Amino acid sequence: PAPGPLAGQHVVITAGPTHEPIDPVRYIANRSSGKQGFALAAAAAEAGAQVTLIAGPVQLPTPPGVRRVDVETAREMAEAVDAALPCDVAIMVAAVADWRVAEAAGQKRKKDGSGHIPPLELVENPDILASLGHAMLRPPLLIGFAAETEHVIEHAKAKLARKGADWIIANDVSGDVMGGANNTVHIVSAMGVESLSEMPKADVARAIIAKVADVLHQPYDA
Ligand code: C5P
Repeated sequence: PAPGPLAGQHVVITAGPTHEPIDPVRYIANRSSGKQGFALAAAAAEAGAQVTLIAGPVQLPTPPGVRRVDVETAREMAEAVDAALPCDVAIMVAAVADWRVAEAAGQKRKKDGSGHIPPLELVENPDILASLGHAMLRPPLLIGFAAETEHVIEHAKAKLARKGADWIIANDVSGDVMGGANNTVHIVSAMGVESLSEMPKADVARAIIAKVADVLHQPYDA
C-alpha cells in the first residue's frame, strides 16, 4: 500500500443511489450522483488506505487504487458491506432507497387501457448504517451522511443516536447540491458541530479524510 496517514487502514465506503426494481424496466431510486462518495474513496486512497467502494448504479470512473464492488439494490449493498468487513472506518454515503417493492414483477407490467393504476406495495429496506452501528464487527469509526432540506443540524444529531454512528455529516440539499460540484457540510459528533464552508466535493472529501486521520491519531499533511 502507498504510504500515507491512513496506511494500513481499511476504509469501506458506500456511494450512489440504490435501484429497487418494480419490474424489469422500472425502478424506485433516490437522487444521488455518487460524486461525494467517490471523492471520499479517492481521498482515502490518496491517504494510503485500503479502500472498498461499494457503489450503486452510477456512471463514474473508479478512483485509482480503489477496490470497487458494484451493486444495484439496498439488499445487495448491505450484503456487500457485510462481505467487506472487518474495517477500521466505514463511511456510508449512499442514498439508499428506504423502501422496495414487496414483489417485483418478473415481466414488464402493462397498461391495460382501462385507466386502472396498479398499486405498489412497499416494504422497508435494511438500514445499512444502523445495522453496522449495532453489529458485532462495528467499525471503530462509523460515519453516516444526512441529506436534509431543513433543520439540518437537529436532524443530524437525532440520527447520530438512532444509527449508532460516531459522526453524521449533514449536508443541506435544499440548494443544487444534488449532482452539483460543490457541497456544504457540518460534521456532527458527540464533540459538537464542525461546519465547513462551501467547497468542491473533492475538497470536502479531503477535509473529512484529514479529520479521520486526525482521530485515528496519525499525522496528516494535506
Ligand atoms: O435515515 P437516512 O436515510 O436519512 O440516513 C442517512 C444515512 O444512513 C446515510 O449515511 C445513508 O448512507 C445511511 N443509510 C443506510 N441504509 C439505509 C438508509 C440510510 O445505510 N437503508
